[in-house]
Amino acid sequence: MSLDKLLKGVQIVSVICGQWGDTGKGKFSDYFASHWADVSARGTGGNNAGHTVVVNGKERIFHLVPSGISQDAKGNLTILGNGMVIDPKVLVNELEDLDQDGATYNHLMISEDAHVIMPYHITRDQAKHQSQSKGGIGSTGRGIGPCYTDKVARRGIMIRDLMDRDTLVRKINKVAEFYPEQNINADDIISQLALSTEKIAPFIRNTVSEMHEQIRQGKKIILEGAQGLLLSIEHGSYPYVTSSDCSLNGTASGVGIPASAIDLPISIIKYPFMTRVGAGPFPTELGGQRSEEYCASGLEHDVFFEAKEYLKHDIDLSHVRHLQKINSPELAKHKEQTYKFIRANQATVIELINSQDHFTQGVGIRLAAGEYGATTARPRRTGWTDAAAAKYASGINGPKIILTKVDCLSGARSFKLCTGYTSKNQPAGFKRDSNFLRSVTPVHKTYEGYGDIGDVRDYDKLPTTLQESINDFETISHSQVVAVSVGPDRDETIVR
Ligand code: GDP
Ligand code: IMO
Ligand code: MG
Repeated sequence: MSLDKLLKGVQIVSVICGQWGDTGKGKFSDYFASHWADVSARGTGGNNAGHTVVVNGKERIFHLVPSGISQDAKGNLTILGNGMVIDPKVLVNELEDLDQDGATYNHLMISEDAHVIMPYHITRDQAKHQSQSKGGIGSTGRGIGPCYTDKVARRGIMIRDLMDRDTLVRKINKVAEFYPEQNINADDIISQLALSTEKIAPFIRNTVSEMHEQIRQGKKIILEGAQGLLLSIEHGSYPYVTSSDCSLNGTASGVGIPASAIDLPISIIKYPFMTRVGAGPFPTELGGQRSEEYCASGLEHDVFFEAKEYLKHDIDLSHVRHLQKINSPELAKHKEQTYKFIRANQATVIELINSQDHFTQGVGIRLAAGEYGATTARPRRTGWTDAAAAKYASGINGPKIILTKVDCLSGARSFKLCTGYTSKNQPAGFKRDSNFLRSVTPVHKTYEGYGDIGDVRDYDKLPTTLQESINDFETISHSQVVAVSVGPDRDETIVR
């Protein structure tokens, strides 16, 4: 199927994740924005997201602004929707990064209805939820949970409130009553936010009516999901979830449209391995609890550590830790060199993946696929792709799927697909009960490995072993794979 065929008669496409996040939504949001759409919009989450876009080898990571912003010069609209939670300072940083790159954002619109992440949300998040090793859920610490909590408790601050000082003071004072221990002072907070408020003010709009107008005009729209279905407050592995509904429905309501208006909802799924970052059940995790605990220590086991420990990369870890502490730009250079070193040592990485020890295999996959958080740099937990979870996801988000990162396991002797679970010796499927998910035993089917597929652009030319496994995946998960991604770059993509 060509892209034209896939998009025939389609006005709205959404790319949302069918797993625990970080599957390549950024890549495909950019793909549809650059090849097809007139409007890019996002409706959920905040700067807990890290969406990577690679064009001609140049990488850019977005946390709030939809990836389609790169099409601004063409006159395309970019909308931050009503369902988002926005930290104005982070948004301004992101806009300043665009300024530095010489990129424009003249057609950016920020929903007046979106909620504002306030400094006291970040303090509360970091105190209560961030530290996974101390029993928290391992949040990104960006204030997401507390901001959505205040929204639901009807004491949230909306973007429009930033424009009206009296309302803002009244609302902040109301919040202060609920959290006396935080010593919240309205004047201090308003002065802290003043510069960012000024910068974003010209972009604030009624984006819901704007979306409706764009649809009426027949404009083509790409909706960019955030997080992943299994992290959804409504459908994910509660309580190990984020605080928004990152399903198809949540993504649609987050921009003010019905899910039924989305002609082509696509779930992005990593294959044949998947990841999770932060705490919570992960039935197919390689190395099980050991891996969960090891990854919970965060930066201690980041890419620099693993390249040194497992590949003998000669890097001064204490120097890197110092750079991380002061958030030095020099870090980027070390990161680039480290990834280059990993690529140069591919044979050793493959040996790790081929290991008999599951934990070591998991490390190998992490190194091969660069699975270190785009937002927090934490190591992502790795395991085989779970077709039982994908079946659950396709029931909620629809059957169309794009498989990503398939190139990352090229060269491994074999790979596995989780075809289902057993629970108390009986066959079982996915459900969101965390205790249940921790108790199941995954059932795997093993396939022969495949060679380099980075240059393949025709689905029929993919290795037979891979095609066989994808057929099995589709049958088990009641889904239909519409594209396969074989590299991070925009056009390293096979449309089926
Ligand atoms: P998102 O949160 O869903 O947008 O995903 P992230 O950006 O957090 O993580 C996905 C990572 O995989 C990024 O570094 C992407 O550049 C990269 N990526 C996406 N698709 C592919 C692919 O098919 N192959 C490879 N090798 N990398 C990919
Ligand atoms: P993108 O859009 C992966 C995870 C966190 C934590 C849990 C709650 O890049 O795929 P939060 O800060 O939201 O309260 O954290 O959710 N999490 C993500 N994991 N990708 C994301 O976003 C995530 N956003 C949140 O690690 O376990
Ligand atoms: Mg991400």
